[in-house]
Amino acid sequence: MRYFGGAPGERYPADFWAQVYALYETSFPGLPAGIQRAEAVGVPWPTNTTPFTLFDGDEAVSHVGVLMQPMRLGGEDRLVAGFHAVCTRPSHRGRGLARRLLAEACAFADARTPLSELSTDDPPIYTGHGFRVTQTYRFVASPAAPSSVVCRPLRPSSVAADLELLRGLLRRRAPASSRWGTLEPGWLVLTDAALSRRADTVFWSLPEHDAVIAWEAVGDDLHVLDVIAARLPPREVILGALPPTRGRVLWSFAPDLLDPEASPEPVPAANGAFMTRGPWPSLGPIGVSPLWEH
Ligand SMILES: CC(C)(COP(=O)(O)OP(=O)(O)OC[C@H]1O[C@@H](n2cnc3c(N)ncnc32)[C@H](O)[C@@H]1OP(=O)(O)O)[C@@H](O)C(=O)NCCC(=O)NCCS
Repeated sequence: MRYFGGAPGERYPADFWAQVYALYETSFPGLPAGIQRAEAVGVPWPTNTTPFTLFDGDEAVSHVGVLMQPMRLGGEDRLVAGFHAVCTRPSHRGRGLARRLLAEACAFADARTPLSELSTDDPPIYTGHGFRVTQTYRFVASPAAPSSVVCRPLRPSSVAADLELLRGLLRRRAPASSRWGTLEPGWLVLTDAALSRRADTVFWSLPEHDAVIAWEAVGDDLHVLDVIAARLPPREVILGALPPTRGRVLWSFAPDLLDPEASPEPVPAANGAFMTRGPWPSLGPIGVSPLWEH
């Protein structure tokens, strides 16, 4: 078996990635199609990940990816290693391949930052490597006086000007949360949006505020997924840009900068587990927007 690991993804040739994408398809059906959608909004997958892989002959059989995400954590700028796309070809499972690659990936991450995280439906795979399940929260918004805010939907996958507007704001963004907020310049938000087919449905421009907000309806509730601006607009503006709802408005990230009175409620375990590794600072209730996870 041949091992490749620790070099930035963009250093590998296209046929290497074709093999890795074929492996992904065996374990996460549809992921390669999502990767193509992300490329279409200007985010080539290999440019933001460091792959750790095992090949059996010409076939990629196991993979762990690590990306480096700048974040604002507890008011400080920190670098966090994100583990993602952990998979082994069904024919090669149960032989310790993922365990070996996770050990390599942890050593790589540890050399760059003490903080790692991941999202998973399968926490036991990671506990032996020091990852621990961390409860995440969403936050019920405080009521706001009704107001009317000019907004228009963006279609970044199909309208070049919309993509440019969104990318420009992502590059200049302030963190939406000082407690636990992403500071990456857009590759993660755009990749998450493309993979989850949210790219053309969740982003709204607020032209009078030089801001973009992302939200979606979940049943009767509205979930605010992100607020992207160099200067965050006030809560009343964000809530005023949402349609009327019979349900609640929930921030999917800690709204310490927007709505400090919002009340946290635990995210149900059915939504998957968030795991952390290393000496994370004590942050209070955090929220991980689906546009910030990996
Ligand atoms: C999960 C997966 C990556 C494991 O790969 P693998 O090469 O068979 O794993 P290993 O043989 O190296 O075992 C790794 C560890 O996980 C445990 N493990 C393996 N499969 C497991 C499962 N389905 N549930 C719980 N634990 C599991 C093993 O006991 C081992 O534990 P240890 O390191 O404490 O001894 C593989 O089954 C897979 O690709 N699944 C589909 C994709 C997926 O679910 N990815 C992970 C979630 S994001």
